[in-house]
Amino acid sequence: MKKFAVFGNPIAQSLSPTIHQMFAKSCAEDISYEKIEAPLDGFEATIDNFFAASQTVGCNVTVPFKERACAMAKHKDDAVVMARAANTLMRNDEGELCAFNTDGIGLVADLTNNGLDLQGTKVLLLGAGGAARGVVHPLLNAGIESLHILNRTIEKAQAIAEDANNPKVTAVNHKQLLADYDVVINSTSASLSGTLPTVPDAVLANCHLAYDMVYSKDNGATVFMAHAEQLGAAKQLDGLGMLVEQAAAAFYIWTGKQPSTASVIEYLRNR
Ligand code: ATR
Repeated sequence: MKKFAVFGNPIAQSLSPTIHQMFAKSCAEDISYEKIEAPLDGFEATIDNFFAASQTVGCNVTVPFKERACAMAKHKDDAVVMARAANTLMRNDEGELCAFNTDGIGLVADLTNNGLDLQGTKVLLLGAGGAARGVVHPLLNAGIESLHILNRTIEKAQAIAEDANNPKVTAVNHKQLLADYDVVINSTSASLSGTLPTVPDAVLANCHLAYDMVYSKDNGATVFMAHAEQLGAAKQLDGLGMLVEQAAAAFYIWTGKQPSTASVIEYLRNR
């Protein structure tokens, strides 16, 4: 039996075991997938111990360990380098730790699943933490026309734009905002505390899609979604689809099998 796990602190709330067991069933894989709370002062030792087991194939990593997972890895994919954070680990044939970040692939897949053609779109990204960094390249690769980054601390948005090194990516202040973004993505951690990032009402009112990267525990709207809806945004989505799609990308890295995601998203929406 192939062995997997997700590491975080806290971790009790994680849907990853459910998601990966559903993938395994549909792909005829026999797996164990645990959720493991790593101690804050012992993440690295916990990971080393996990990978010491012969049946271990890989693991996911979530808050607050994604940066430390990146630091531990010998090999990092481009998304990890940009995000400075990893959500997926695996050992290669030489026994070296390889890190991946599938969050951005997950976001783009979810947007596409929901009928959005990103080609030529103008995107506003709210927030400039690790979550924002992770989605920059996948959005560019999907053919967007421009990516504006608005953050409470503008220097952090400017640092991302500098690292992206692409004329399509710009850090903006409130005065530089456009009136017609196609998509506004909330990557801030404000939703986790039930608060809103500051963004002019008109920006949300005029956008086609307001996307919150977090998902709501009770399948209702997040604070950001409810706010956007009230202002008249055409459509709102939470990050549940992104969660399932980033998991599918990790499952593919580990097993070479592409699980179908629609039934898993539907199951979690109705749970
Ligand atoms: P993550 O890895 O989830 O992105 P992070 O690196 O701590 O977490 O980044 C959190 C982001 O949310 C930051 O951009 C933060 O803004 P600052 O850079 O100014 O700190 C943003 N954020 C958190 N709470 C916010 C709030 N109440 N309003 C606006 N932005 C907020």
